[in-house]
Amino acid sequence: MNDLGSSLGQTLTLRLEVDAAGIELAASLLRQGKLVAFPTETVYGLGADASDPDAVARIYLAKERPSFNPLIAHVPDLDAARREGVFDEIALRLAEAFWPGPLTLVVPAAASGTVSDLARAGLPSVALRVPADPVALSLLEQVGRPVAAPSANRSGRVSPTCAEHVLADLDGRITAILNGGHTSVGVESTVIACLDGRARLLRPGGVTRAAAEAILGFGLESMAHSGEAPIGPGLLASHYAPRAAVRLDASRVEPDEAVLLFGPIDPPGTRAARAHLNLSETGDLQVAAARLFSALRRLDEAGVETIAVVPILEEGLGEAINDRLRRAASPR
Ligand code: TXA
Ligand code: MG
Repeated sequence: MNDLGSSLGQTLTLRLEVDAAGIELAASLLRQGKLVAFPTETVYGLGADASDPDAVARIYLAKERPSFNPLIAHVPDLDAARREGVFDEIALRLAEAFWPGPLTLVVPAAASGTVSDLARAGLPSVALRVPADPVALSLLEQVGRPVAAPSANRSGRVSPTCAEHVLADLDGRITAILNGGHTSVGVESTVIACLDGRARLLRPGGVTRAAAEAILGFGLESMAHSGEAPIGPGLLASHYAPRAAVRLDASRVEPDEAVLLFGPIDPPGTRAARAHLNLSETGDLQVAAARLFSALRRLDEAGVETIAVVPILEEGLGEAINDRLRRAASPR
């Protein structure tokens, strides 16, 4: 197998089935410092051994990430997480309620931790997640080290919810991919910082704000309202962007646009539009989250200059959906 660093664009990406042999090979490739994309219940991750700075550096190269943003370290259970990070009472309550699942906790890095400085972007904190996808869990158990994994897309592009999306962005740039079909949640994990006795929502995601607050018994602070500089460096830039421009809150559609619909009522102009897709005809936010990123990719394939998006409810998973759409619409 070629080394990605010396032959970017020439590596043959292995397509692995999610059977015992496929997962075992994926684990051994990760342990050798290779890049392996794998399914989680949120989006596909681009995995590398988090304790190996050379392996982590290859993630940035393959994704063409311009700067070293901190990455999430994936571990198989809370015990492994507690070897990497310091959990206060708030972090423990959240971990016990939502792991395995679509929640990432940013906690102080433990002195005994093995996640490399590069994966933490030099921060004194570490982002940890125990994913629920059984393939991901069994992979992590076999690797036996934390696996750094951002979404398996090129930097700034839409996150991948199936193996085809990953290969469209990264074929030939990564050693292997485990093909686990479509992901179920469809938007990335919720990121909550548990530092200094506070609980701050850094990124809305698969665990709703309401669900987290019900467990905590108090409200999460929002980064948007805190007036502080973002503590997650990757959190504010234009992100999740299709090629086309994105126009939000559309109440009518122009004939040269594609339109992303939600709910039973289509805005005027929909029939004449170049393409249209409905995230959920019945207005179901869970269905809409699962379809969001493939819908953006498919509308982009229509080759339009603009994708119009109808308003989407801001409650529950709607907070994460609208967050991703606002980033897709923000200036590049
Ligand atoms: O669902 C997900 O979270 C997916 C799957 C693969 O697990 N991963 C993912 O990773 O979305 P990524 O790298 O695209 O997003 C990680 C986010 C970034 O916004 C980053 O800034 C933030 O987590 N983050 C990571 N470490 C942090 C830290 N120490 N402090 C603050 N934010 C951090
Ligand atoms: Mg990402």
